[in-house]
Amino acid sequence: MLEITDSSWNSQNPTALKSLWRERRTLNEGIDLSGVWRFREFLPASQSEQQIVTLREGNTPLYELPQSSRITGVPRLYAKHQGLNPTGSFKDAGMTVAATFARQAGYRWVACASTGNTSASMAAYAARGGMRSLVLVPEGKISWSKLSQALDYGALTCQLRTDFDGCLRLLQELVRRAPVYQLNSINPFRLEGQKTLAFELLEQLDWEPPDHIIVPGGNLGNSSAIGKALLEMRDVGLIPRLPKLSVIQAEGANALARTLREAGGERLVSVQAETRATAIRIGNPASWEKAVKVLQATGGACEQVSELEIAQAKAEIGAEGIGCEPASAVTLAGLKKLLRQGFVKPEETVVLVLTGNLLKDPDYTMEFHRGDLFKDTAWEQESAKLDRFRHPPVVLDATLDAVIKTLEQAEKSDPTHSNV
Ligand code: F0G
Repeated sequence: MLEITDSSWNSQNPTALKSLWRERRTLNEGIDLSGVWRFREFLPASQSEQQIVTLREGNTPLYELPQSSRITGVPRLYAKHQGLNPTGSFKDAGMTVAATFARQAGYRWVACASTGNTSASMAAYAARGGMRSLVLVPEGKISWSKLSQALDYGALTCQLRTDFDGCLRLLQELVRRAPVYQLNSINPFRLEGQKTLAFELLEQLDWEPPDHIIVPGGNLGNSSAIGKALLEMRDVGLIPRLPKLSVIQAEGANALARTLREAGGERLVSVQAETRATAIRIGNPASWEKAVKVLQATGGACEQVSELEIAQAKAEIGAEGIGCEPASAVTLAGLKKLLRQGFVKPEETVVLVLTGNLLKDPDYTMEFHRGDLFKDTAWEQESAKLDRFRHPPVVLDATLDAVIKTLEQAEKSDPTHSNV
C-alpha cells in the first residue's frame, strides 16, 4: 500500500522546528491558523498556499480527566479531543491535506465509503474546495447527525443496502470505472494529515512523550497515521523515545484483535461486524497491515471491549463535561482493561484519543439515558448495573412546585455528588 516519505524530513533541526511551530501558533492569518498545516515540514508540499483547502482544523485541546483519573487510579490521564475539529471528528486533519491534493490534481469529484464521519468531513472539504462529493454509506447503520452533515455540505449521498465493508468494495470498483478520486483513509494524503494529531499532542506535552497513547480502531487508518508520526518524530530527534500506541476495538468488530491473537498478525481475520459504536462497525479493515507494524514498532497492545463497557465509559467521559461519541469511548474502556492486565501502570502517563464529538450520535445518548439502549438484546439484564450513570429527562407540569420537588428528590438520591 502506498505511503509517503520524504528524505528531507530527516535533515530537520528539532530545536529549530519546535520554536518555528510555536511561533506559528501566535500568527493570526494564513495557513498557520490550521493546526495541521502548521506542521507542514512533515507534510507533502502543496503547489501554493492559495491551493490549500482548510477549515482551520486541528488546534484541538488536550484535557485532563480528573474523574476518570480517580476511577482508573491513573493521575496523569489526558484526552486529546479530536471531536472538536470543524466537522466534529478527527477526519478533518487528514481531509484538509487530501482535499488539497485532489483539487490540485484537478479532480471534479471526490468520493468515499464511510461509517459517517469521513463522509461528513469529505463533503465539507469538497464544498470548500469547489469539488463535488459522492458518499457511499451503509443504509440504517450511520447516525442521522453524520448523515445530515453530508446533506448540508452538498454531497451526493447514497445509502447502500450493505455494510461499510460492502460500500468500500463497491467504491474501489467505481474508482476504476469513473473519474472520481477516492478519499478513504487508504489515501496516503489522508494519513499524512492525520499524523499531525501526534505532533500537536507532543507539543502540548512540551515534547515529553507519554507512556501510552490509546486509540479506537476501525479501518485502522488513524492508528497507522499516529504510528508513522511517532516514528518520524523519534527519527528526527523531536522525541527521545516512543510512546506505546495501543488500539481498542469493539468486541463485535474485533478484526485486528483476532488477527493478532489467532494469526500472529500474519493474515487478516475478518469478521461480520456488529456494534452500536457504528463509527467502528468494520469487519475488514483496510489498513490492518500498517496497524500491525505500528503496534510492533511501538510495543503497543490491541484489546477489545464489550458494548456495556463502551456505554459506561461514554457516560464517564460525558460526566467530565466533555463527552464523545461511542467509538471514542472504547479508549477509556480499553484503558481499564489494560490496567487490569498490568500492561499500563497507574504511575504512567496515558493519552486517550477521543475521535468524535458527543453530538455525532445523539440517538445513542438518548437511548442510553432513557434506558432503551440494550432493550431486547443479550445485555438487557446486565445493563441494569449502568442505571447509576443514566440521567433521563423528566417531564413535568410547568409549576414551580413540581420543579422544586424534583430538585429535592435529585439531591436526596445523590447527596454525595460533589463539586470537583
Ligand atoms: N472513531 C471514530 C469516531 C470514527 O469515525 C472512526 C472511523 C474511528 C474511530 C476509527 O478510525 O478507521 O482510522 O481506525 N470512521 C470511518 C468513517 C471509518 O467512515 O467515518 P480508523
